[in-house]
Amino acid sequence: MKVLIVGGAGFIGSHAARRLVQAGHEAILFDSLATGHAEVADRLSLPLLVGDLAHPNDLDAAFARSRVDAVMHFAAFCYVGESVQSPSKYYINNVAGTLNLLEAMRRHGVERIVFSSSCATYGMPQRPTLDERHPQLPVSPYGRTKLINEHMLRDYGAAYGIRFVSLRYFNAAGAAPDGLIGEDHDPETHLIPLCLLAAAKRTLGVTVFGTDYPTADGTCIRDYIHVDDLARAHVLALEHLADGGESLELNVGAGRGFSVREVIACAERVTCQAIPVATGPRRVGDPPILVAAADQIRQSFGWRPDYDALEPIVATAWNWFRAGGRYA
Ligand code: UFG
Repeated sequence: MKVLIVGGAGFIGSHAARRLVQAGHEAILFDSLATGHAEVADRLSLPLLVGDLAHPNDLDAAFARSRVDAVMHFAAFCYVGESVQSPSKYYINNVAGTLNLLEAMRRHGVERIVFSSSCATYGMPQRPTLDERHPQLPVSPYGRTKLINEHMLRDYGAAYGIRFVSLRYFNAAGAAPDGLIGEDHDPETHLIPLCLLAAAKRTLGVTVFGTDYPTADGTCIRDYIHVDDLARAHVLALEHLADGGESLELNVGAGRGFSVREVIACAERVTCQAIPVATGPRRVGDPPILVAAADQIRQSFGWRPDYDALEPIVATAWNWFRAGGRYA
């Protein structure tokens, strides 16, 4: 299949594009480069169309240029904390932008989409692990934008025949094992890269956001999933839609969680460096525990993570950071 990868120059989109090509499909990257990196296209030898979801003309040009069979949509702002401070940025890009994309798909007769949703759509967990039927009551504007997107897809699916797979990611981490592509955010706010930057002495240390959560060591627990495992889930979702499969909403997590303190200790082991740690207040919008019940995607696609333990995930990220950890 020929696939337009919207947000394809970003962290997860770039890994999905690479996997897609390895699986024998064709990928065209579409990215505003607001947070993505043009160099991704060079490294992957893939075509890059620079355009913005805010501009329907950019989308029309991309769809008119080559007839694509499906879309993968990664182009969203994704910082929970920032979304609390600047909800307008999130509603404009994540909601209005996705609406523009769906409208462009309708205009150009493209009826399949794999969408990057999030476990942030669930909000405060009511059970130890979150299955897909858990109530969706997001506690951040970011989570609400993703939930609105899911509703848009359901409505467009019912009315216009668009088929979709919404993948609710847990915490994406790691980098390509060969170091070709990886995570390069500016500013960086994610825990694992911050630990590695501190281990590499490029920052002074890490602050733990909240030590009074109802968890064993008082810090937040997250389900960290390797970006290549996530990428593989996207290829399977696409092939499911290509085979005429029905629309689905699926968690993509490993089904086990690690606390902030466990992540820091793991980064110290992987890097053989001590990481200076300070403690700070809770970050607004952070639920105490987010761990996937991942049975559904196993049943639907036979998917299970290749990376089960945390060390190899952090090791691939460390490999990327040691080699510079940045695009030019
Ligand atoms: N944390 C710290 N100190 C830091 C950074 C993070 O203690 O300096 C903590 C956070 O409070 C949280 C955990 O580490 O408990 C993980 O935080 P990240 O910022 O790495 O990731 P988030 O869980 O906030 O968010 C990520 C993605 C979202 C996605 C979410 C799903 O950025 O897009 O995972 O859990 F929705």
